[in-house]
Amino acid sequence: MAAKSTSFDLNRFLATRTDAVNAALDRFLPSEKTKPATIHKAMRYSLFAGGKRMRPAVLLAAAAACGGSEKDAMPLACAVECIHTYSLIHDDLPAMDNDDFRRGKPTNHKVFGEGIAVLAGDALLTQAFEIAAQAKGWPRYSHRDLVLEIAKASGSLQLIAGQVADVEGEGKKTSVAQLRYIHERKTSALLCCSVRLGGMSANCSPAQLKALTDFGYNVGLAFQVIDDILDVTQTSEQLGKTAGKDVAVAKATYPAIVGLEKSRKIATQLTDKAFASLKTFQGRAVALEALAEFLLKRDK
Ligand code: IPE
Ligand code: IPE
Ligand code: MG
Ligand code: MG
Ligand code: MG
Repeated sequence: MAAKSTSFDLNRFLATRTDAVNAALDRFLPSEKTKPATIHKAMRYSLFAGGKRMRPAVLLAAAAACGGSEKDAMPLACAVECIHTYSLIHDDLPAMDNDDFRRGKPTNHKVFGEGIAVLAGDALLTQAFEIAAQAKGWPRYSHRDLVLEIAKASGSLQLIAGQVADVEGEGKKTSVAQLRYIHERKTSALLCCSVRLGGMSANCSPAQLKALTDFGYNVGLAFQVIDDILDVTQTSEQLGKTAGKDVAVAKATYPAIVGLEKSRKIATQLTDKAFASLKTFQGRAVALEALAEFLLKRDK
């Protein structure tokens, strides 16, 4: 299945939300001229290099599904994008995936050197918490809850755990279960956290939070399966990052372990599961639904 085409105008949603997120990020971050200028230039270089802004998009869409406002959700949307961008800067370092291109441009360390790239990642991670602290807090969800949410998804049991297993899995025989472990942590955790934060920013009910968690978990898994597929099927120009790298370094990926055809099927099944968890919103989650379909069918 995984075809849900409604009359929802996703292109317009993405264009307007991306503009709003970019403007808010620009306000939250120190200017390029702020001393030490090198670090602020480096942070902004990767942050404004043209990412798809999918984590902010699902966060804002989840807030909308729960009747929240974009203004309330915006600090959290900016915080998750800072964490995501930091994780990419570090992921690209020679000590990790050793990639030269990201978001259609030379990677951070190629432009600023490895030392500054490490620090730009560190600074964006810290910046995320500074921005999240500026969210207002809600009756059901305190600042403590928000900080815990972000810290847990990014920490050594989730995103970092996934990156550790990914690095250690290179060139080794990996089971589907182990690959699932990697994907749950390196990618799904932050996507799921983003969806949940959107709900929390709308003071969502426990039942809504449960539905959003299931949605985010499955969309997050599908997201990484598609990322693995695109690495095989697309060109570097199309992706804005070097294609074919996973095969070249024998990364554990879905196409490598189960083949392209089965990988596509798995991504579709995960997206169908994500759709199913939106039933409880009774048509108020159209943006989330459209995003899940878009993420499945994306070509970059
Ligand atoms: C790439 O994420 C890294 C993964 C977790 C697969 P995106 O595909 O969202 O990258 P940008 O933000 O658009 O550059
Ligand atoms: C990156 O996964 C995941 C994180 C940065 C947490 P990948 O290594 O597959 O992402 P790309 O392909 O470099 O974007
Ligand atoms: Mg990686
Ligand atoms: Mg990588
Ligand atoms: Mg990849």
